[in-house]
Amino acid sequence: MKKLRYFKIFLVLFFVLGTSGIYAQSTYIPIESRNNVLVLQADNGRVPRIVYFGKKLQNKEEYSKVAGMCNQGDDYSGILNAAYTPSGTHNLVEPALSVTHADGNTSLDLHYVSYETKPIDDNVTQTSILLKDPVYPFEVTLFYKVYKNDDVIEQWTAIRHQEKGAVTLHKFASANLYLKADNFWLKQFHGDWAKEMQPEESKLTHGIKVLDSKLGTRADLYQPPVFMISLNQPANEDDGKVLYGCLEWSGNFRIDLELDPLNNLRIIAGINNHASEYALQPNEEFTTPAFLYTFSDKGKGDASLKLQRWARNYRILNGNGNRLTLLNNWESTFFNFDEAKLKQLLKETKKLGVDLFLLDDGWFGNTFPRNNDKAGLGDWQENKRKLPNGIASLVKEARANDVKFGIWLEPEMVNPVSQLYFKHPEWVIKQPQRPEHLYRNQLVLDLSNPQVQDFIFNTIDSLFIKNPGLAYIKWDCNAVIYNAYSTHLDKQSHLYIAYVEGLYRVLARIRAKYPEVPMMLCSGGGGRVDYAALKYFTEFWPSDNTDPLERVYIQWEYSYFYPAIATSNHITDWGKQPLKFKADVAMMGKLGFDIATEKLNETDLKFCQQTVVSYNGFKEIVWHGDQFRLVSPWNSDFASLMYVNADKTSAVMFNYLVNNRYSAGSKVAVPLKGLDAGKKYRVQEINLYPGTKSAGGLNAVYSGDFLMTVGLNPRVNSNRASVVLKIDEVK
Ligand code: GLA
Repeated sequence: MKKLRYFKIFLVLFFVLGTSGIYAQSTYIPIESRNNVLVLQADNGRVPRIVYFGKKLQNKEEYSKVAGMCNQGDDYSGILNAAYTPSGTHNLVEPALSVTHADGNTSLDLHYVSYETKPIDDNVTQTSILLKDPVYPFEVTLFYKVYKNDDVIEQWTAIRHQEKGAVTLHKFASANLYLKADNFWLKQFHGDWAKEMQPEESKLTHGIKVLDSKLGTRADLYQPPVFMISLNQPANEDDGKVLYGCLEWSGNFRIDLELDPLNNLRIIAGINNHASEYALQPNEEFTTPAFLYTFSDKGKGDASLKLQRWARNYRILNGNGNRLTLLNNWESTFFNFDEAKLKQLLKETKKLGVDLFLLDDGWFGNTFPRNNDKAGLGDWQENKRKLPNGIASLVKEARANDVKFGIWLEPEMVNPVSQLYFKHPEWVIKQPQRPEHLYRNQLVLDLSNPQVQDFIFNTIDSLFIKNPGLAYIKWDCNAVIYNAYSTHLDKQSHLYIAYVEGLYRVLARIRAKYPEVPMMLCSGGGGRVDYAALKYFTEFWPSDNTDPLERVYIQWEYSYFYPAIATSNHITDWGKQPLKFKADVAMMGKLGFDIATEKLNETDLKFCQQTVVSYNGFKEIVWHGDQFRLVSPWNSDFASLMYVNADKTSAVMFNYLVNNRYSAGSKVAVPLKGLDAGKKYRVQEINLYPGTKSAGGLNAVYSGDFLMTVGLNPRVNSNRASVVLKIDEVK
């Protein structure tokens, strides 16, 4: 009897101490990349907590000592640093996940069960951590995919349950991070049409700062899903601790930045839960999109290098491949063209020396011809008056001129003045009992509907079937979702998510059949740029604003997150700068033209032709090399950037005057980056406007050591507003 009593006491003690964690052994889960580590402490009966994020320690054993060094106070709940914060139990801060169970109960707890790390290849590993609610049959797996050499992590979540009915997900974040520092600086971006990527930097204060979009389709118009957090002080190019974050989702997103009562930063990123409650059926798995981040303790330049390399190697379609230079007709003709005009432009394309002619908006619609942006969108048949012999004859003519042919589409949208709208009003997103609200005279098709997905796929597929020579697509998206309502869906709160999933389904089908065709991701400019969409696209259109002065800033800001190979830049009539300035700015990415080349005088035409030749001479470096931002246009009279190839034998440096004031220009040398100090390099100014000469004393041979220690003065001034320097090893 006595023995049994002791045994019972032992069992009770074992249970109480075991579940209280006093004697339970902590598991430390280090999620390591080449330079950094995210350390989670996992105890049975508790949600895993983030105990360290930053530079890797030499000795893994010491990860267990990190938490003990911190006495910021008690957070009462033990949950502020949760790796995935549930709601409805003891959590009182912003959750990552909140639900209503099938029985109506709103409490959720997520206890650590197990974890696994498996290699995917030499560079990539994936850690998964299983969490379960101790009361409900509800579980979550956290995924961390680490790209070791790039210091990049993709983090997402899979949510499922075996309850007796649907569980409502009210919030369902992809990732939850926890940073410690004295203070935190947020660099965020905002914008509008032709004003993309306007930066703002501010110190985060206590409470929650939310970056979000509720626009549905053209989700980034006012705010893109990219941001950076500097620790302690705003990071510079070459020093400071900085985290870059991007949500891989082409729809509504939400990023919560909560400075908590202990002065640490909680980051919760995912799909925006606004109007998007999700009814998760038993055994259905809800997988969130990935939140992508990279961290550097060597400043923004290092973070960008890593992210740009990752994007080329792992994400952007054909990220290490070639791109086509092009002539686009949008700004030279708008909707006003016919076959004869286009045939002339095909000859101009050849004369200019670029690879491809891109036919823009206005080629389709018959009952409601697309002669302006008020009609025809959705009716993807060639307009018989403008193109009596169809696209086929243009593709043929392009071939005869030895150039390629590409075409513009805006397949997700419809003008109410179109046959499609009359034939299929049920395919259109709009409230049944409320007036329509148009954006650029158009509405959005309901991509949650498989019939609409088929329609879009077939539109593009039949263009390729009829015109096998078609070599390029510009995929536009000009409208936002107003009056969100789908006749197809039973549950309206699923629309925003189902739309994006439908879009990806269509893009995946296109890519399965046409894996290589280059496609530009456009959204009336940069209204939709993110690392989920870029899986399907070779490049994006940063902005309709091609004023080269504005563009220096826009391209500068995009370059923090996206590599030049993905950035389409066109020379147009926007802006007051000379043609050379426009050309030099457009060359810093993927070059194109959108001007009436037939109206150029002889010298300007010669210069444009020379620009194509110069560009062809160094485009590989811009596309595949490392980019270095040298002088910021935000705090100098000029901007300087350079690109260096992988073996450091060739580089190209771009310099642009951004200030009009008296004597503005480059007064001192700009130290270069990324070269080999032990090599010798010849510096030569290229792409000079015909009849002009380079500045004296610039073109010479220098050591890499000199170029990186002293530097070059590109001699930018009002007479030399833009300067391109080619830098090549001499042996
Ligand atoms: C959007 C694009 C432009 C052009 C027009 C055509 O605004 O950003 O480049 O294609 O549509 O309507």
